[in-house]
Amino acid sequence: MKLSKSAESITTSPILIIAAEINKKIQQGEKVFNLTVGDFNSQIYPIPDRLTELTIDAYKQHETNYPGAFGIDQLRQAIIDLLKDYCDIDVAMSEVQVASGSRPLIYSFYKTIVDPGDKVIFPVPSWNNDYYTEMHSAEAVIVETSPETNFFPTAESLRPVIQDAVLLSLCSPQNPTGTILDKQQLIDICDLVVEENKRRSVDEKPLYVMFDQVYWLLTFGNSNFHHPLAVCPDIKPYAVFIDGISKSLAGTGVRVGWATGPASIMAPMRAFIAHIGAWAPKPEQIATGLFLAEKAPVNQFLTDFRAQLQGRLDGFYQGFMALKEKGYDVDAIAPQAAIYLSIRLNLKGKKTVDGKLLKTDEDVHQYLLNDVGIGVLPFSWFGADSHADWYRISVGTSTQVQVDEIMNLLELSLQKLN
Ligand SMILES: Cc1ncc(COP(=O)(O)O)c(C=O)c1O
Repeated sequence: MKLSKSAESITTSPILIIAAEINKKIQQGEKVFNLTVGDFNSQIYPIPDRLTELTIDAYKQHETNYPGAFGIDQLRQAIIDLLKDYCDIDVAMSEVQVASGSRPLIYSFYKTIVDPGDKVIFPVPSWNNDYYTEMHSAEAVIVETSPETNFFPTAESLRPVIQDAVLLSLCSPQNPTGTILDKQQLIDICDLVVEENKRRSVDEKPLYVMFDQVYWLLTFGNSNFHHPLAVCPDIKPYAVFIDGISKSLAGTGVRVGWATGPASIMAPMRAFIAHIGAWAPKPEQIATGLFLAEKAPVNQFLTDFRAQLQGRLDGFYQGFMALKEKGYDVDAIAPQAAIYLSIRLNLKGKKTVDGKLLKTDEDVHQYLLNDVGIGVLPFSWFGADSHADWYRISVGTSTQVQVDEIMNLLELSLQKLN
């Protein structure tokens, strides 16, 4: 039966398909280390206890009716205070929009800016911009990146493609690479967008920028997050920032996200969110607002959480460096942020013990998953075909002890290839 054009073209993310395949294997009793998901094992990484308590309290107080279109005031004020405390930027209440996680905000921002046929620029590897572009019948303008720039675009690589685009979508700290945009690069890109908008006439749609910052509170070592408004205030009329508790408070299933940006953009986004009914649940909004306002438990949670994530990421990174020293053709980028590590596995052309030739990154993925029991995601699944020997690993489901176990298993599997 005939469906809409959108329904006929929409596809499920291969990442979700693999996640389901791995879960099935695990349920069937197979031992698989699932490094594929951008999610947490909540038994290993629970949300803060205090947030759980506050959520239960809100339910007990029967705070269960519609939450209001903006999101509750107390949560929006707590978000404003968080941004002031951590980034020293000023945001007004009318510039904050809450929704059920970050995705409805990304979708509604695209919906607010992008018409069919419009050009949307995003660097690859990139998380989900291909789907959002497709859902808006827009034209994807893909900018290739390289490990030398931590898989970020530079102002120079963007300059030739910005002239007739309406949206530049950036994510830092970045999924899938676990890297963070360098401060000067960020300034240069913001300056380029401001300059381009000065060139456009008032009748033209400006070039807007989406900064997806859902991992900004998860940075490690010397990697510092810089809020674009702090380093380039002139970007403000054109920029929308996506955020939420899914990653920073390990609350992927709690569904509280927010966007900040010009009130004139938040207003239509709010209308889209309201029509879809993608409000964050009211008890979760109340609890998140109260929790963020308490500040001390937030800092405590983040300190512990970052230490755990960094321990795993460092463990994997050192494991890869040790393999590299032993002469294996592998590499990795030192952990900077988020829950991901970019790893390089040059296994194409190798043969498995049962004679299978590994021709593509898909073959490598299948070999590691089915013959070794380790799930990793090729960068080509994030649109980066030209970096098909790079993969994302996520530490959201691993314990520290498992890191060594996984690296030993990987080394054995590399030894068996010829
Ligand atoms: C960069 C990025 N943005 C947004 C999201 C979605 O977040 P949420 O669960 O809040 O919808 C993810 C989830 O993986 C992500 O990696």
